[in-house]
Amino acid sequence: MKYAIITGASKGLGEAIAKRLIQEQIAVVSVSRTENMEIKSLASEQGMEYKHFSCNLSLEKEVQEVFMEIAHCIFQKDPKEILLFNNAGVIEPIQTVGNLDQTPVIRNIQVNLIAPMLITNLFFNKAQLTNTKVTVINVSSGAAVRSIEGWSVYCSSKAGLNMFTQTAAIEQAEMQTNNKIIAFSPGVMDTNMQETIRSSSKEAFKDLEHFKEFKEKNMLLAADVVANALVDLVLSDSVENGKVYNIKELLK
Ligand SMILES: NC(=O)c1ccc[n+]([C@@H]2O[C@H](COP(=O)([O-])OP(=O)(O)OC[C@H]3O[C@@H](n4cnc5c(N)ncnc54)[C@H](OP(=O)(O)O)[C@@H]3O)[C@@H](O)[C@H]2O)c1
Repeated sequence: MKYAIITGASKGLGEAIAKRLIQEQIAVVSVSRTENMEIKSLASEQGMEYKHFSCNLSLEKEVQEVFMEIAHCIFQKDPKEILLFNNAGVIEPIQTVGNLDQTPVIRNIQVNLIAPMLITNLFFNKAQLTNTKVTVINVSSGAAVRSIEGWSVYCSSKAGLNMFTQTAAIEQAEMQTNNKIIAFSPGVMDTNMQETIRSSSKEAFKDLEHFKEFKEKNMLLAADVVANALVDLVLSDSVENGKVYNIKELLK
């Protein structure tokens, strides 16, 4: 049996990944602050194992406690493979450096970078004592490799996530484990995160009009199109350890 853990499965890309995986007969563990009841119903219709854990990923203690419990529940079933999607993310603060408030800066780094690091560390650690293969998919962004004015914190968190991914990947290869870890840049998608971006101010975010145009001109990718391309890759067995994938190459 394969298990997938998806952070941020309540909305957007995470929701679309969860729905597709349930269709693929993969047991899903959802982690976010709110539960998406459509996913619960779909799992029950399909007769699939599903469990939601409520967790605020910006709180280190909650992350440790909730993921210890998830790891305990899953590893005791001796699964063939665990797919860990570190997908939850926040864009805020959208603000220029010099005008940032401390709390949203810390929250961004906790959710986007520290939580994926701690969760990956825990699962690679637990996998050492088992025959289970762990595949980690860290959802990154084009902003990891392109500076966007007003997004310094978000860009930094995603750049850090890419580097963490690449470093952990070479370590796993060196240790000759079966585990793999990749990063994935999903492109600009029609989700709540884009609504937050469009509601920011021109003073804080220079590119605001450009992002409004993406929506007006229907240029945003649908989350399910992106999720299907990512899941096709992950289930194909051709995942290249350490690679930072971009949606553009998967939709060709
Ligand atoms: N949308 C884009 O254009 C775009 C572009 C590039 C990269 N990305 C990346 O793609 C990923 C998914 O983004 P999305 O567009 O689907 O975002 P979204 O629609 O805003 O959804 C964000 C998800 O993250 C969860 N989340 C946020 N803060 C959390 C916290 N403190 N604790 C637990 N869960 C939290 C939310 O769940 P709750 O609110 O229920 O907690 C929600 O399920 C993110 O990593 C994002 O950076 C998005």
